[in-house]
Amino acid sequence: MFLTGTSRINEKNHLEIGGVDTVELVERVGTPLYVLDEAEIRKRMKEFIASFQAYNIPFQVAYASKALCTKAMCYMAEQEGLSLDVVSGGELFTAIQAGFPSERIHFHGNNKSEKEIEMAIDANIGAFVIDNLYEIELIKEIAGRKEKKVNALIRVTPGIEAHTHEYIQTGQEDSKFGFNLNEPAIAAAKIVQASEQIELNGFHFHIGSQIFDMTGFEKAVERIADFYSIVQYELKTELPILNTGGGFGIRYTNEDNPLSIKNYVDSLLESVKNHFVKRSLNIPEIWIEPGRSIIGEAGITLYKIGSSKDIPNVRKYVAVDGGMMDNPRPALYQAKYEAAIANRMISDESEKVSVAGKACESGDMLIWDIQLNQPQAGDLLAIFSTGAYNYSMSSNYNRIPRPAMVLLNEGNADLIVERETVEDLVQYDRVPERLTVQKNIGIK
Ligand SMILES: Cc1ncc(COP(=O)(O)O)c(C=O)c1O
Repeated sequence: MFLTGTSRINEKNHLEIGGVDTVELVERVGTPLYVLDEAEIRKRMKEFIASFQAYNIPFQVAYASKALCTKAMCYMAEQEGLSLDVVSGGELFTAIQAGFPSERIHFHGNNKSEKEIEMAIDANIGAFVIDNLYEIELIKEIAGRKEKKVNALIRVTPGIEAHTHEYIQTGQEDSKFGFNLNEPAIAAAKIVQASEQIELNGFHFHIGSQIFDMTGFEKAVERIADFYSIVQYELKTELPILNTGGGFGIRYTNEDNPLSIKNYVDSLLESVKNHFVKRSLNIPEIWIEPGRSIIGEAGITLYKIGSSKDIPNVRKYVAVDGGMMDNPRPALYQAKYEAAIANRMISDESEKVSVAGKACESGDMLIWDIQLNQPQAGDLLAIFSTGAYNYSMSSNYNRIPRPAMVLLNEGNADLIVERETVEDLVQYDRVPERLTVQKNIGIK
C-alpha cells in the first residue's frame, strides 16, 4: 500500500491524513479537493534546516514557491526559518501579503518585467537572481532612479542537465536560462561589478528536477568551483555566496527510491567542500531552492468517481470529477502516480482500471493501468504526491473551477484556498456594448 506522510488507514477502513478522516472531510468540503499534510511539510522543512546546521557553513534554504505558492505556504516557510524563491510578481505579491520577511526573498525569472523589478526593489528583497544582460540594464536603471542598491546573484548554466537517474553534460548548454560558462558569465559579472546599483554576491545554477542520482550535482559543483576560481581572479574579489538550485527527487510511485533529505544535503555539501578546498577557495555560503521535495509528497488530491467505460479485453476507464485542469502533469509529461479508494482502503476485490479526468481531451488521463479496490460511482479516489506543480500549474480549461485546498494537522482541517465558483470564472469577462445591441439576423 502506497501511503505518504501521516496518511494511515483508520478503523473505518478510510484514508486518514493528519488525523482527519478524508471521507468525512469531503462530505463537508466537497471534491475535487487538494489536501496538504502540515506535519509532513514542516518535517521536511525542518530536515533541510537541520541537515545544513550539521555543517559549519552559512546557508539559506529557500522554498521554491513555484511548486506551490499560497499565503499559508509562505507562513509555514517563514516559521520554519526558510527563505523564499519567487519567479513572478504574483509569487512576490503573495509572499508580501503573507508578511514574509523581504530580506529572505530571492527573485528569479528569465524575463522580469519593469513592473516586477520595481515591486521587488520597493519591497527591499534579499537578492535578485539575474538571468540576462537586458535584466542587468533594467535593474540598473530602476534602482538608479530609486537611489537604491540591490544584492544579486547571476544565474549560470553549468552545462549539466539532470533528470531522475540520468544526467547529461552538454558543454554549451542549450537553455533559455542564465549565462553560459565561462566567458558570457564573466562578462556579465564584470558589468554588474562595475555598476553602482548592483552588489554581486555570487552565482546560481539549477540543473533539473526530480533528481535521484547526485552525480549530476557533483559534476555541476566541480565546474562551478573551477568557474569560481577563474571569475574571482578576474574580478579580483571573493564572491560570498553560491546557490545550487533545487531538484531533489521524491516518491511518486513504488518504483521511486529517493535519497533522504539529509543524504541529499550531505552529498551536496561534501561536493562543495571537496571541490572548493581542492582549489584553495574559501567555501561560500550555500543557498538551495527545494520545491518538490518539500511539498510534493505532502499533497494528496481527493476526487469523486463518476462514470466508467468498460471495453472488454481492452481496458476499463473510470472517470473522476477533476483531471488535467487540477493536475496537468500526466498530460504534460507522462507523470505517474499511485492512488487508493479512500473509503475502502483494504479490500479483497481489486481491479485494474485507468483513471480518466473529465476534461474534453482524450489525453486527459490521470493514471493508466492501476489496481484499485473495485472502484464504483460515488467512491472517493485519493491520488498521492500531488503537492508540487499541480495547483500551481492548474487551469480553468473547459471553464472548470479550481478545487479548494485544505491544510490537515492533528485532526484540524483548515481551508487555505477557497473553491472557485462559476461566478469567479466569468468575473473578468466583458461584453462590448455593440454586441448587446446587434440584432440576431438569424438564417434566412
Ligand atoms: C531555478 C529553480 N530553482 C528551484 C526549482 C525547484 O525545483 P524542485 O521543485 O525540483 O526542487 C526550480 C524548478 O524548476 C528552478 O527552476
